[in-house]
Amino acid sequence: MSAAMATRPLPAPGVDAADFKAAMRRLASGVAVVTSRHGGVVNGMTATAVCSVSAEPPLVLVVVNRESASHGVITRGERFALNFLAEDQAPLASYFAGGSGKTFDGVAARPGVTGCALIAGGAAQLECVVETAYDQATHTIFVGKVVNAAAGEGRPLVYSEGSFCTVREL
Ligand SMILES: Cc1cc2nc3c(=O)[nH]c(=O)nc-3n(C[C@H](O)[C@H](O)[C@H](O)COP(=O)(O)O)c2cc1C
Repeated sequence: MSAAMATRPLPAPGVDAADFKAAMRRLASGVAVVTSRHGGVVNGMTATAVCSVSAEPPLVLVVVNRESASHGVITRGERFALNFLAEDQAPLASYFAGGSGKTFDGVAARPGVTGCALIAGGAAQLECVVETAYDQATHTIFVGKVVNAAAGEGRPLVYSEGSFCTVREL
């Protein structure tokens, strides 16, 4: 880094929200249904703010809006599962992005070792126990220790530019 760069002041904080959203729309992300359980209460929500944190130990994170029903269920149940959807499961992504009243009726799923729903036919499944929760603005970052992992065969579903897509090799 040059001396000039090192002394240059940081840009003034603040960015136009529309510019931020337009930039983030350019990010292509895998699509997960985050399932949760606390006692007899189960839930599922679509999420793209999901990523791997470390392999040893195996940790992942998911960023969850504090106003979602899932937030309460994950906080109380201290567990969640990430169901990475396959390219033919976009209808499930739309369904689990809907508001309250979602059920697993008609969804091919079974409870995993954590009791969270594992959706059949997806690209992969991870079951997690919450290790740490960081509140950040409107959201909470849940870091989960992975206690069960399985890769499926379907090609992953991707979300970009406001649409569901799939991946293809260059
Ligand atoms: C493609 C897509 C990605 C989403 N990603 C997230 C996310 O990462 N975190 C989040 O809190 N909500 C995300 N949402 C919104 C939730 O799916 C939505 O608010 C859902 O209704 C929450 O359900 P719940 O209230 O039953 O938990 C996403 C929605 C869509 C369509």
